[in-house]
Amino acid sequence: MPHKYNILIVDDEPGVVFLLKEELTESEQYSVATAQDGAEAINLLHAQPFDVVLLDVKMPRVGGIEVLKFIREYYPTTQVIILTNVADVKTAIETMKLGAYDFVSKPYTREELLATVGRAVELHRLTIDNEVMKYELSRQSSAHEIIGESEVMQGVVRTAEKIAQSDAIVHIQGPSGTGKELVAHLIHTSSNRKNHPFVIVNCASIPDALLESELFGHEKGAFTSAVAMKQGLVEVANGGTLFLDEVGDISTMIQPKLLRFLESGEFRRVGGTNAMKVDVRILSATNKDLQKEVEAGRFREDLLYRLNVVTIRIAPLKERKEDIPRLVEHFLQKKSKTKNPKHISAEAMQLLLRYDWPGNVRELEHVIEGAVLLSHDDEIRAKDLPLTIVDKVDGHLPQENQHATEKVLSLEEIEKHHIEFSLQKNNFNRLKTSEMLGITPKTLYLKIKKYRITVPQH
Ligand SMILES: Nc1ncnc2c1ncn2[C@@H]1O[C@H](COP(=O)(O)OP(=O)(O)OP(=O)(O)O)[C@@H](O)[C@H]1O
Ligand SMILES: [Mg+2]
Repeated sequence: MPHKYNILIVDDEPGVVFLLKEELTESEQYSVATAQDGAEAINLLHAQPFDVVLLDVKMPRVGGIEVLKFIREYYPTTQVIILTNVADVKTAIETMKLGAYDFVSKPYTREELLATVGRAVELHRLTIDNEVMKYELSRQSSAHEIIGESEVMQGVVRTAEKIAQSDAIVHIQGPSGTGKELVAHLIHTSSNRKNHPFVIVNCASIPDALLESELFGHEKGAFTSAVAMKQGLVEVANGGTLFLDEVGDISTMIQPKLLRFLESGEFRRVGGTNAMKVDVRILSATNKDLQKEVEAGRFREDLLYRLNVVTIRIAPLKERKEDIPRLVEHFLQKKSKTKNPKHISAEAMQLLLRYDWPGNVRELEHVIEGAVLLSHDDEIRAKDLPLTIVDKVDGHLPQENQHATEKVLSLEEIEKHHIEFSLQKNNFNRLKTSEMLGITPKTLYLKIKKYRITVPQH
């Protein structure tokens, strides 16, 4: 079922409403609701966000201007088209100063109407995309290909693609760095919702006190710092997919609210009284064992059962080492700046295959990235690999690498060097560096302080 755009028509002349509704519903794209006056419109708007509102100005009880102001304050991304008589175009222009997108003057032609609504819908989509971009920040979207030849990874991809067609809630379980986010992304892009937002909420990185308002939004004045109304991510994701990452970290305070939302699709903004509804598909992930969290009293059992209707498990890399060669090739291609990617020596590959990869694919990606930079020619050799890998594997070291163990650095020294190296590589951009290292900007900041790393001031 493709997502339809929600349109609200507000006019006190039943004939006008009837005609507009007919013309818009003819196009399969729109789902249309109607209201006879401003008061009814505001009630409907309280219950769900609309993409576009067609609004008459002169109506009994509450007039169009009031509704327009309400929409601008509470639904900043909703686009408003004013319905007006030719004689009253002046008022219409006034309303555009208040934030209406456009106006249609009666009598209008069908083409005119559809074109204006079409543009408003498009603008709404773009504004939402813009919001989404803010949340996705600099996530590189090109890098979403899932590599995995092992039977287990093939199974994961098959299940993800199959389940994508339904609206089922899917839980993705696996140790850190195994590609949970990639799988969530695959489910979204293989679904009918792919042209709508994919919004990621990292439940672990948002403080408890803020998570509720991040998710569900807040009304102006809901708390001291709430100087303006803010839409929650569930609204931003409307029509699309909301990925609750690290869902095991949601506090017991927020869990009941999330549960209610999953059960009914309804939510309230913080400080708001009205229940609102959105159409969002939920995915979640964690590297915790949620069953254990339930036993420890940190996670509600009923919420767990809601979330794990379908569970996709991703195995740690050490249990599917046959994936390593193709992953290495993939990362060599991704990290080498030139058209001809570097290759890897047989010995170095042996080391990679023997190592246990506690940080899974993310660790492998970082190792390859580092090795590409360290190697002086086209070939990556054992000496270009971090000592941890060389040290931790059993058995004797390959000949070419023995000198590397002569001076043993402490783990802290290695970490310090690695951070310095990564900072330089990213031009001392801390956000990019923390992303590359797979740690939060705050952790990076603390480590920079701990190791007294000098960062030039821009
Ligand atoms: N099968 C794979 N093919 C290609 N790249 C992969 C694969 N698995 C993981 N990666 C890469 O490894 C990195 C980590 O993956 P991702 O962020 O999806 O892991 P995660 O399971 O969400 O980790 P965490 O629990 O730490 O959040 C990403 O850069 C991702 O592109
Ligand atoms: Mg993740």
